[in-house]
Amino acid sequence: MEALRRQRIKDLLLSDSFGSKVTVNGWVRTKRGNKNIAFIALNDGSVIHNIQVVVNVPEFDEELLKLVTTGSCISVTGTLEQSQGQGQSVEIHAGSISIYGSADTEAYPLQKKGHTLEFIREIAHLRPRTNTFGAVLRIRHAMAFAIHKYFNDHGFYYIHAPIITGSDAEGAGEMFRVTVLDPLAPPLNEDGTINYKEDFFGKETKLTVSGQLEAELAALALGLVYTFGPTFRAENSNTPRHLAEFWMIEPEMAFYDIHDDMDLAEDMLKYLIRYALENCSDDLEFLQKMYDNELINRLNSVLVDHFIRLDYTEAINILSASGTNFEFPVKWGIDLQSEHERYLVEKHFKQPVMISNYPKEIKAFYMKMNDDGRTVRALDVLFPRIGEIIGGSQREDNYDKLLARINELNIPEKDVWWYLDTRKFGSAPHSGFGLGFERLILFVTGMSNIRDVIPFPRTPKNAEF
Ligand code: 4AD
Ligand code: MG
Repeated sequence: MEALRRQRIKDLLLSDSFGSKVTVNGWVRTKRGNKNIAFIALNDGSVIHNIQVVVNVPEFDEELLKLVTTGSCISVTGTLEQSQGQGQSVEIHAGSISIYGSADTEAYPLQKKGHTLEFIREIAHLRPRTNTFGAVLRIRHAMAFAIHKYFNDHGFYYIHAPIITGSDAEGAGEMFRVTVLDPLAPPLNEDGTINYKEDFFGKETKLTVSGQLEAELAALALGLVYTFGPTFRAENSNTPRHLAEFWMIEPEMAFYDIHDDMDLAEDMLKYLIRYALENCSDDLEFLQKMYDNELINRLNSVLVDHFIRLDYTEAINILSASGTNFEFPVKWGIDLQSEHERYLVEKHFKQPVMISNYPKEIKAFYMKMNDDGRTVRALDVLFPRIGEIIGGSQREDNYDKLLARINELNIPEKDVWWYLDTRKFGSAPHSGFGLGFERLILFVTGMSNIRDVIPFPRTPKNAEF
């Protein structure tokens, strides 16, 4: 099979088997030359770099070479040679070329270089063909792999939380409904409300906002666990940092308090960034050159010092004393906005910040209450350019306190009886957090819009592909 014989451009660019016969398949980035000699820049996605194919034009059928245009897919067999040209060490001297798929030069949307990211977003089906998106996708893969490696090496078990659920883990009411009922004629109860007993699952179901509650059940049996799956939020946030469908990594650890939780968050983030620097240097250098000349420095800079750790109350004091005119005025009790988070990280401390002990009113029901009765053991990790990259907490492990909080927030007990059960039978102190995968990729790639770090972004009014 042709596919088995082909070699990856990534490997050939490092090879010194000059004179050997090779086959590469890939997509043509450019073709230039004259009636005697042509140079094809070919890319197969294995690496950001192209391989140069040198064509002795008179040896080839003119009609065939006409089909070798930007965007076409070809197979080249030839000999690997040391390159005389600048900017590459090897090239292929073509012996034969065949066309898998041509690409009409008039119609192909990526014919020219230099399209804006906004334009490329509109053609999500062709976006992987761009250098930028190729680099982002390879880095995304490397980060997903590194996450599993990190946890596996540290004794964590990977848990698959359900995507369809009856519970609103974050209590924010921003869930997408999952139903098979006819929207025009749903079965009704006597009081006119929809009768979900007749729905597929016999109850109301939604797409999950978080795998945390299920991860907690597993942690209270397996000790160290994590989830890594898609999560969904029907919040109408049209910002460069919000998606309606995003991936979240949620470790959950029995016998961890909030300080252990912070240690893990810091160690994991540093591991992932170091992994990217060590394994994705070609793609990072490309993105640095194209978009963000501080990228690699910034990645290195977060590895140097310990992250700053401070209480919410201290953060409020710093913001109040800053003399800055924030759009959202600062006072104890407010939820920190992106402008506040970025002030702390980028202006005040100039390094990542971990804030804990938030007012209970602005955090979810499951967080452990402090002795002061008004703050909970919540943890947010704030990063330069991103703001919140991680949200987590120590969990309330006391049955009576958890039940009181659930009642206070009017959460129906019938929805969370199973969660309460874990505090009834063999409860244990435990903690966890959620890392937004796309926010991590935003930081690592230096891209500025979250829509550019996920293959098919889901945002309000946008689900074309
Ligand atoms: O702070 P959040 O809402 O925390 C939770 O969901 C907890 N259950 C996590 C846990 O303790 N196991 O979300 C966690 C992280 C945020 O810090 C952010 O990085 C990301 O998920 N995130 C989003 N990313 C993209 N688009 C959105 N709409 C996001 N909402 C949260
Ligand atoms: Mg949060």
